[in-house]
Amino acid sequence: MFITFEGGEGVGKSTQVKRLVDRLEQFQIPFILTREPGGSPLAERIRTLLLDGVFKQCGPEVEAVMFAAARSDHLKRTILPALNDGKVVICDRFFDSTWVYQTLTGANEDFLKTLREEATNGVDPHLTIILDLDEKTAAERIVKRRAGAAVDRFEQENAEFHSNVRSRFRMLAEQEPTRCVLIDASGTADEVDDRIWDVVKLNFPSYSFV
Ligand code: TYD
Repeated sequence: MFITFEGGEGVGKSTQVKRLVDRLEQFQIPFILTREPGGSPLAERIRTLLLDGVFKQCGPEVEAVMFAAARSDHLKRTILPALNDGKVVICDRFFDSTWVYQTLTGANEDFLKTLREEATNGVDPHLTIILDLDEKTAAERIVKRRAGAAVDRFEQENAEFHSNVRSRFRMLAEQEPTRCVLIDASGTADEVDDRIWDVVKLNFPSYSFV
């Protein structure tokens, strides 16, 4: 099973990814945890360049190509081997982030659709958890989390950009309802964790969680 986590900045994605990892460990379900951009040695190198904003000057399509190049290697070297071994793959961001972020930086939508096919060869996640949180709460969480840390290429975008990120993820959840589940990310980490676990459990129909 291939599960991806998506959402804007400050929605609590990293916390919830860790919570799901804890649940899988608790039930001794074999899994790997990986992330994008990154997740393989080559893709991690590309990640550094992308988050440093090195490709911003090349324009949105070229930047999208670099995300896709990283994804292609990540899929081949990390995700597919783990799925073939029967492991659950949890991936922090995947092609939906390209769809949301790179369209907002101005990349052509048809181009991005082609790129998705090229990078993934039609491999789609079985389940995509989209964390949804109002902008004000997300902004407060970002301020807390940052506490002096460096700000990356996309964190530098303005409030309108981040509000659009949220809208596009919500739109995506409507457009692909069988794969994507929109999760209310407000409330405590425990509350959000329970909401996510209810959804994930439904996707393990033959497994007994006791
Ligand atoms: P990361 O430090 O992993 O942040 P987060 O905790 O928000 O996941 O940074 C990844 C950044 O890259 C994030 O701002 C979203 C952006 N991104 C894209 O623009 N396109 C993509 O295809 C992916 C995977 C990420």
